[in-house]
Amino acid sequence: MNEKIIEIIQPDDWHTHLREGDILKTVLKFSSRINNRCIAMPNLHNPITSSSLAIKYIHEIKKNFTSKEFTPLIPFYLTDNMDLIDFDKGLKNEIFVGAKLYPQNSTNNSSNGVTKLENIFPALEILEKRDKVLLIHGEKVDKNIDIFDREKYFIDDELTNIRKKFSNLRIVLEHVSSKYGADFVAQNKKMGGTITPQHMLLTKKDIYFNDVIDPFSYCMPIVKEEEDLICLRKYACSGHENFFLGTDSAPHDIKNKNLNGIVKPGIFTSPASLELYAEIFDQENSINKLETFSSINGPNFYNLPLNTNKIKIAKKSWYLEEFTQENNIKIKNFFGGKKLNWKVIQ
Ligand code: NCD
Ligand code: ZN
Repeated sequence: MNEKIIEIIQPDDWHTHLREGDILKTVLKFSSRINNRCIAMPNLHNPITSSSLAIKYIHEIKKNFTSKEFTPLIPFYLTDNMDLIDFDKGLKNEIFVGAKLYPQNSTNNSSNGVTKLENIFPALEILEKRDKVLLIHGEKVDKNIDIFDREKYFIDDELTNIRKKFSNLRIVLEHVSSKYGADFVAQNKKMGGTITPQHMLLTKKDIYFNDVIDPFSYCMPIVKEEEDLICLRKYACSGHENFFLGTDSAPHDIKNKNLNGIVKPGIFTSPASLELYAEIFDQENSINKLETFSSINGPNFYNLPLNTNKIKIAKKSWYLEEFTQENNIKIKNFFGGKKLNWKVIQ
């Protein structure tokens, strides 16, 4: 039997974590295997809060290239006390693709994040003026808010205001995880949303074992109900222009994933990222819409050209290794040990 092969414009990953040092060396080849461009998130141990840190980080990534054609794009990490002059210059000189808002303590390495949105209004004015993108980790963290409702509260209490006040600003709600969030993205102008594979593959029922969360299925925002998963699949697979590929591939060495009962959120998908998306689109009888989601909607939203290279994906089964192990690092691969039905062949 002839295997089915599809050819699509080379994708980009609009939300990934490449990290630094040995982890960067270990994971970079997976992102550059498929993508032409990746937004490399700035939540490093020492977050990217200045042009000079961004330039240093781009050099570190470039030193480790496994492929010549790969462009890391860096968002500025917004803080309460940022240097607005440096920020403006960095945007003007295209050092930054935009800026990332982490509400303080919403996820890994967000302790330097923003405590009150008003504190970054001057930065948002600059972003709007420079027509650069605001990327948002959209969760409101408060001891009275259930972990499953953080996205909804962020939208109601914060995002709705920003959307109104900065009406020309392009905003991406990153890793949209709920029907509520996805509908907001779909119904508003100048809004984009990245969708991860895990939010279209897992629900909260999948992540508990004997009432304890499986650390390797734990990410922020946490995966939710079946209704949410179905809605995310619907938007991604319809080709809706506001939604595009962002894996949120977030590697953690297994040594650090669960330390003294504190589990670090983050799921490592890059070893099979496009294959996982292909699986989902195929299940939804929408493989013909994969290219729109993976390679067209993102560049259009970011006002960047479409990639000119093409890649081929074949429908054939293979097993993903359980772990990525190198440079004294061991990372659990999401879907590791399981069978996949699509494989990138070039
Ligand atoms: C990410 C990480 O590990 O840096 N974790 C995650 O669960 N998604 C941070 C983030 O994007 O929230
Ligand atoms: Zn992330």
